[in-house]
Amino acid sequence: MLESIKQTSEFLKLKTAIRPKIGIILGSGLGGLVDYLEDTDSFDYNVIPNFPVSTVSGHAGKLVFGTIQSVPVLAMKGRFHFYEGYDMKTVTYPVYVMKELGIEKIIVSNAAGGANPDFSPGDLMVITDHINNMGTNPLIGKNIDSLGPRFPDLSEAYSREWRELAKDVAKSMGISFREGVYLANTGPTYETGAEVRMARTLGADAVGMSTVPEVIVANYLGMKVLGISCITNMATGIATSKHSHSEVVAVAEMAGKKFCDWVAEIIKKS
Ligand code: HPA
Repeated sequence: MLESIKQTSEFLKLKTAIRPKIGIILGSGLGGLVDYLEDTDSFDYNVIPNFPVSTVSGHAGKLVFGTIQSVPVLAMKGRFHFYEGYDMKTVTYPVYVMKELGIEKIIVSNAAGGANPDFSPGDLMVITDHINNMGTNPLIGKNIDSLGPRFPDLSEAYSREWRELAKDVAKSMGISFREGVYLANTGPTYETGAEVRMARTLGADAVGMSTVPEVIVANYLGMKVLGISCITNMATGIATSKHSHSEVVAVAEMAGKKFCDWVAEIIKKS
């Protein structure tokens, strides 16, 4: 695995002169942030050695190097989901590559269902913490001690300092936001009403099918994490209508500009 990560990152370093400081994983419908990048070098996943290829519509699948407000960044448009059949090492592979490229901070975003009845579709939520309900963990297996500890601490899985900065930036821009706990299920089914009631009882404000694996690995590798969920629909039982992926993508795209303006400003101040 180490060899493979090095090979991927060597390829990218040869192909671009940009040395990103911040990595960004863009969730469904939030890929518009790449249009905010300047001086870009873009790579389709299928041309990057050892990189998996994404399969879901709404996830284009490219790595875009560029600058936002003069800060060098690397944006991942389209991620790898566990429900696509990838194993957890594959799902989190890009995070290892980001670390190898010298990235120490990562912004992770997603589309999520609102489990907190106070929320509304289109809300943006700063993730304060997560619940791993995926039934597995990306760090299961022999530990590579040179990468991180066997038993990583997750007491500040989402950097407190970075969350405070994100909130200050939102307030100064007049952007409204929520805060809450994200619970990840494997998907690909949306939750049953009973599962959403369980999630709420467990303390979740939003439910989704991603993010938790990447955040676990980022913490393992010693990276600072900021997580933002776009609430694209109210979760089952709170929602009055049935869910569809097209609705999820459409709402995320509508909230996209607010998301992108906010994230761009956060990057400038980080
Ligand atoms: N549940 C799980 N994942 C999701 C949802 C949801 O309601 N909306 C967007 N992603």
